[in-house]
Amino acid sequence: MIVLGIETSCDETAAAVVTSEGEVLAETVLSQLDEHRPYGGVVPEVAARAHLHHIDRLVAETMDKAGIAFNQLDAVAATGGPGLIGGVIVGIMTAKAIAVSCNLPFLAINHLEGHALSARLSSHSKLEFPYLLLLVSGGHCQLLSVEGPGQYQRLGTTIDDALGEAFDKTAKMLGIGYPGGPAVEAAAINGDGMRFALPRPMKGRAGCDFSFSGLKTAVRHAAMALPEGQFENQDIADLCAGFQDAAGDVLADRTAHALDKFLEAHPQGRALVIAGGVAANQSLRQRLQQLAAERSIELVAPPLNLCTDNAAMIAWAALERIEALGLEAAQDTLDFRPRPRWPLDPDAAAAGAKA
Ligand code: KG4
Ligand code: ZN
Repeated sequence: MIVLGIETSCDETAAAVVTSEGEVLAETVLSQLDEHRPYGGVVPEVAARAHLHHIDRLVAETMDKAGIAFNQLDAVAATGGPGLIGGVIVGIMTAKAIAVSCNLPFLAINHLEGHALSARLSSHSKLEFPYLLLLVSGGHCQLLSVEGPGQYQRLGTTIDDALGEAFDKTAKMLGIGYPGGPAVEAAAINGDGMRFALPRPMKGRAGCDFSFSGLKTAVRHAAMALPEGQFENQDIADLCAGFQDAAGDVLADRTAHALDKFLEAHPQGRALVIAGGVAANQSLRQRLQQLAAERSIELVAPPLNLCTDNAAMIAWAALERIEALGLEAAQDTLDFRPRPRWPLDPDAAAAGAKA
């Protein structure tokens, strides 16, 4: 079985061709970082136009690289949400057009499901269900019990900002570049995380939800209290280290609660999986590694190109659904409507603004 996947829900235009054995025949990811850098964040209209501009060529190039013709595909899949609606429309319309013109089944994939199953792609399905997923990206911060394709229980989510967003805003406040995560991580290496007393929102509270807006505000207040003029490098380093340490404490605390809940319901569970762009952060990884080791659980992190937004995870989520339900039942109809919000676990309380 071979599926073409398309991803356009945020600021990456991506296409990939993947087999049911988990072989990525070809993949292309075009980042829009340069388009958004002047604004210090993703501008939805700019993103949608860029997706539209690039998508046809990107799909054609990816099919060329894979060395197969459209009629050799078994299905075409695209992210149907959640995400920036203009971009999602571009991807879904492209996939529908290919499906109609080549007479192929069409699947709309939940972007979060793509992230949730990406570790199974990189492990060639050796990572077994159930596992606990910590998804930390620019748009999401969630803890999910992953029990099978289409079977998710959300244990926690952010009630305000996503962690990647907080990294990006911290970097913007300190004037150290975009995207903020890698810039904050690099600056923090030379910093003293103890110099500024920053809060650990939600730490020690019951449940597994996150909150990062208070931390972000505290960084702003600390920065504003510094002498006027340009920030000294050491001030920046210390603030970044303080922010990252606080974020690490919060992630470890919330994830520990989620692991307790998850293992209570699934004593056979063996893995904590991290995904999303923030999972690239080495200091945060170490904190989670420590937590996993304490619980005799394996920490699984897909390679970075699968952690950040990509289309291979979308094709793979389609393949997992096809494997579970059969091709006939797995497909969506062409009247599928893009969904700016699309919670993976519809039963979860509607905490937070981000699905
Ligand atoms: O998953 P992703 O590529 O896109 C989505 O948001 O869906 O994640 C991007 C986010 C950005 O907020 C970026 O600042 C953050 O991941 N990020 C990091 C690091 N690398 C990327 N955050 C912390 N440390 C990093 N090394
Ligand atoms: Zn994502």
